[in-house]
Amino acid sequence: MPMDVLVEARGLVKEYGAGRRVVDDVSFAIGRGETLGLVGESGSGKSTVARMLLRLVEPTAGEVRYEGGDLPAAGSQEMRGMRRRMQIVFQDPYAALNPRMRVREILAEPFSIHREKPVEGLAARLAEMLRTVGMEESALERFPHEFSGGQRQRINIARALALRPEFLVLDEPVSALDVSVGAQVVNLLRELQREYGLTYLFISHSMPLVRYLCDRVAVMQGGRLVELGDCEEVCDSPREEYTRKLIAATPEMPVSV
Ligand SMILES: Nc1ncnc2c1ncn2[C@@H]1O[C@H](COP(=O)(O)OP(=O)(O)O)[C@@H](O)[C@H]1O
Ligand SMILES: [Mg+2]
Repeated sequence: MPMDVLVEARGLVKEYGAGRRVVDDVSFAIGRGETLGLVGESGSGKSTVARMLLRLVEPTAGEVRYEGGDLPAAGSQEMRGMRRRMQIVFQDPYAALNPRMRVREILAEPFSIHREKPVEGLAARLAEMLRTVGMEESALERFPHEFSGGQRQRINIARALALRPEFLVLDEPVSALDVSVGAQVVNLLRELQREYGLTYLFISHSMPLVRYLCDRVAVMQGGRLVELGDCEEVCDSPREEYTRKLIAATPEMPVSV
């Protein structure tokens, strides 16, 4: 059966400065409900690709297609409408949360930005968002510094889910966390995907984590896509020496299946 494509990168290029190519002709598609892993050493262009998919970075060349249509220009009214359907969770759960805002304000922000009132009422929706990520409603009155890294990342995930998006970019979401805490967050992401039919681009430098979470994996080296295939196939019998090295560089499976 052909894949029901949700997001597609076509010949994406990003140049900085005097023609320095940090992403060079990258193409791939992500199926609806699929988790595509994106791996590669630091500086290989993973975050830049992810940001171009969300129009947070403007491509130098190439295009991003969403449900078969061109993604509208950054800043346009149409793009604002698309924004709510695609969200990103960043690596650093400390930097991503405004320290002066209570969790209630942090979680309510997407609704005010998009001028939307949840049908069930804001208070009920905020409480539900916290429950969804395994946290207590009492968290609403507290500030980010009162939480651990894992809890903060749960708050980031809750905020990303506020407007019920369909596509989530997870840019190394557990790389800053302890292995066991990260494993819990990864398991939460799996549950959320099952419950809400989410589509993920999961960026990581941990091959065992990618193998645990992803259906297919794309491997980047120096701005280029060097390998793309089913997760198990790529992990068990990588074609590229570079992929072999990435696999060898990450230790044991950090999550229990
Ligand atoms: N805004 C920017 N200006 C100039 N260079 C950048 C910018 N963003 C990223 N880069 C460079 O692009 C390359 C790829 O970065 P990035 O996409 O963050 O890689 P990764 O996420 O794989 O670690 C790096 O060399 C980085 O320094
Ligand atoms: Mg990155």
